[in-house]
Amino acid sequence: MAAKIINGNEIAAEIREELKKEVALMKEKHGVVPGLVTILVGKNPASVSYVTGKQKTAHELGFYSMQDDQPEDIPEAALLALVDKYNKDPKIHGILVQLPLPKHINEKRVLNAIDPDKDVDCFHPVNIGRLVIGGSEARFLPCTPAGIQELIVRSGVPTSGADVVVVGRSNIVGKPIAIIMMQKGKGANSTVTVVHTGSRNMEAHCRRADILIVAAGVPGLVKPDWIKPGACVIDVGVNRVGEKKSEKTGRMVPILKGDVDFDAAKEIAGAITPVPGGVGPMTITMLMKNTVLSAKSSIK
Ligand code: GUN
Repeated sequence: MAAKIINGNEIAAEIREELKKEVALMKEKHGVVPGLVTILVGKNPASVSYVTGKQKTAHELGFYSMQDDQPEDIPEAALLALVDKYNKDPKIHGILVQLPLPKHINEKRVLNAIDPDKDVDCFHPVNIGRLVIGGSEARFLPCTPAGIQELIVRSGVPTSGADVVVVGRSNIVGKPIAIIMMQKGKGANSTVTVVHTGSRNMEAHCRRADILIVAAGVPGLVKPDWIKPGACVIDVGVNRVGEKKSEKTGRMVPILKGDVDFDAAKEIAGAITPVPGGVGPMTITMLMKNTVLSAKSSIK
């Protein structure tokens, strides 16, 4: 039987509706409006498109949101001073510095300068530490992993005691999703294995997975015979494999391919995310969720 297709666009829209209501209520009851600033250095086209999407969503949800564009040659000290300005601004609850930054800037230094309580990307070591400890210590969840967990839970896939196999050990997806899924609690409590480029027999591990999360950045890496029949497959890969003319705009747009051979895998899996339209739409939505959470905790 063909797999259920997990529709990230629909689930993200559902969460945004919930957030919109929460924002309106917060405004009405407490006079607090979630504030998000996105800082963009330079004009990298992909980054421009990402921050535009983040700003658009923030506006739609009723946030106080602003885009702060800085020139490519901004000195690191000036960028650090800007971050500090927003750290001190009570109207701002979330600060996002769009990556990558130009080579002359130490990315780690800039990210670590963000107040952990406004770090809605959840890149700061303090927030990663809180995430690892878990329970009431955890504050923000990193956006893509949080989106993955929402997709799994809202698709009705059981997680407690499930064998979860994560392919990839990046700091922004592989490591944090492994931590999230192993924590005690709802939507988690799984037995987690992480496989990576140093793993022996990656396929054998994948074949055991009730939930297979693939974030390797290798187009079509996971073959259909790596998938246990009925498994839930979450494909985080967004690989540009070429370009095509958009039917809507006539402009050239990238052709995206996931890390999983989708057409074949959907005949074996029980549920699967497509690329695009699976994990992708969730990331921005979870950034909004973190900003709402941050605003909520500012209420005395
Ligand atoms: N660049 C690409 N993805 C991201 C993201 O999730 N956060 C930030 N800050 N920069 C990015």
